[in-house]
Amino acid sequence: MKFGINSFEIETADTVIIPVMKNKVFELDGFENTIKYIFHTKKFKGEVGEIFTFTSSDNDKYKNIIFVGIGSAKEISGEKIRNAFARSIKKCREFLSEKVYVSTTNIEGFKYTEEINAIVEGIEFGDYKFDKYKSDKKPQNNIEICIGNVTTDRVKEAERELNESITLVEATLLARNLVNEPANVMTPEALSKAAGDAGKEYGFEVEVFDKDKIKELNMKAFLSVVAGSEKPPKLIVMRYFGDKESSDTLGLIGKGLTYDSGGYSIKTNEGMLTMKSDMGGGAAVIGAISAIAKRKLKVNVVSVIAAGENLISPAAYKPGDIIGSMAGKTIEVINTDAEGRLTLADAVYYAISREKVTKIVDIATLTGAALSALGITTTAVVTNNKEFYEKLEEASYKSGERVWRLPEFDEYKKLIKSDIADLKNVGGKFAGTITAGLFIGEFIEEKPWLHLDIAGTAWRDNEDGYFSKGGTGAGVRILYYLAQNGY
Ligand code: BES
Ligand code: MG
Ligand code: ZN
Repeated sequence: MKFGINSFEIETADTVIIPVMKNKVFELDGFENTIKYIFHTKKFKGEVGEIFTFTSSDNDKYKNIIFVGIGSAKEISGEKIRNAFARSIKKCREFLSEKVYVSTTNIEGFKYTEEINAIVEGIEFGDYKFDKYKSDKKPQNNIEICIGNVTTDRVKEAERELNESITLVEATLLARNLVNEPANVMTPEALSKAAGDAGKEYGFEVEVFDKDKIKELNMKAFLSVVAGSEKPPKLIVMRYFGDKESSDTLGLIGKGLTYDSGGYSIKTNEGMLTMKSDMGGGAAVIGAISAIAKRKLKVNVVSVIAAGENLISPAAYKPGDIIGSMAGKTIEVINTDAEGRLTLADAVYYAISREKVTKIVDIATLTGAALSALGITTTAVVTNNKEFYEKLEEASYKSGERVWRLPEFDEYKKLIKSDIADLKNVGGKFAGTITAGLFIGEFIEEKPWLHLDIAGTAWRDNEDGYFSKGGTGAGVRILYYLAQNGY
């Protein structure tokens, strides 16, 4: 896909996409009467998600026209535009389009730059498919896309927005790809190599610690989780310093279980089937720091992933074990399937004690309870800092990635105290997302902290709108905007 602002004339396109607001007739390159007629036939009203296509001819030249509904001004949102354009690009593929002209409209009360961002993301995300292992896939042509009707006074900001959006798309699709690779390919080592490659491509430093170094660091909780795996764990550290004058550093810590079988507290086959996605948080922090570095944001960011597998073997950790941690706290293992919080406890403590991060975000496919509470569309958040959460909400609005804050009352903190160790890794059968978050909160040394549980949002069982089946790349864009909004 190749995008440009006003990059070619509508006459030279083979396909034109026209977003139409609900029952609103507008003037555009002679389509006014057509749209009036279609409204009149009631085959298309401009409701969100509606699509109406036809092929027109003028002077022997045929053009595919795609009208796509985006709803009324008061219901408009970036998400609706993303989904509408995801559907439109699929139509373009059916038409075998090569040159697509996208008309932009003036949407009352909606920022023009946000419209461009949503169009680009909707098209690219909607066109993505993970099919590298299919032998019979058809090669797809590269589509040239013109974002048209941009008035001269807006060309500059439109171009800036386009470039930023292309970077965010790239970083999100990188995360989707990492998640979609099966666990026999995307091993801890492969993940560390992918981080290294991204570092070279986008301009950040990557250091990978092997098992001996992880032992030296005393990451006993992390090592307990990976003890059952023959694949050596990796501690992946990514550093980007874009604001040398500042001593503030944002820590982005991603869960990096390249596979989670549950260990001796073994999952069902169904539960295990999607557990290659248990490094979705790790993929998100690789994607986010890639975009941050590529756009040269004036911020300091250190991303950390404790990568490993949770498997069964005579060496594996067991329910009932009492293990240590880098921070020195002892942990009673109630359930070996509550492994993510153990790896994250060491990873966040490492980031604070060794990398000196001053604010910390962890992002993890942590609990099935997050799915029960909020479903697949909203990321659950636990935090100790209201202002920091408000920054996340701003970033959420920009990216369209929804978040919702859960309470962190002291009563919940009591649930993870153990009778025979400092902490236990499960706080009972209720409020599982909160207690899992608060467990990690025991290791953050009072720093402003956000915990994002993406167990529901990192994965889709079905294609839907701009989501493809499999990894979603959840977290990449919201973390990018969080860093940009002043960390
Ligand atoms: N990786 C899982 C959480 C998960 C479940 C992510 C479903 C995506 C979809 C995590 O390690 C886990 O197994 N959590 C347990 C915790 C429980 C044992 C307290 C869970 O949620 O069942
Ligand atoms: Mg687990
Ligand atoms: Zn897990």
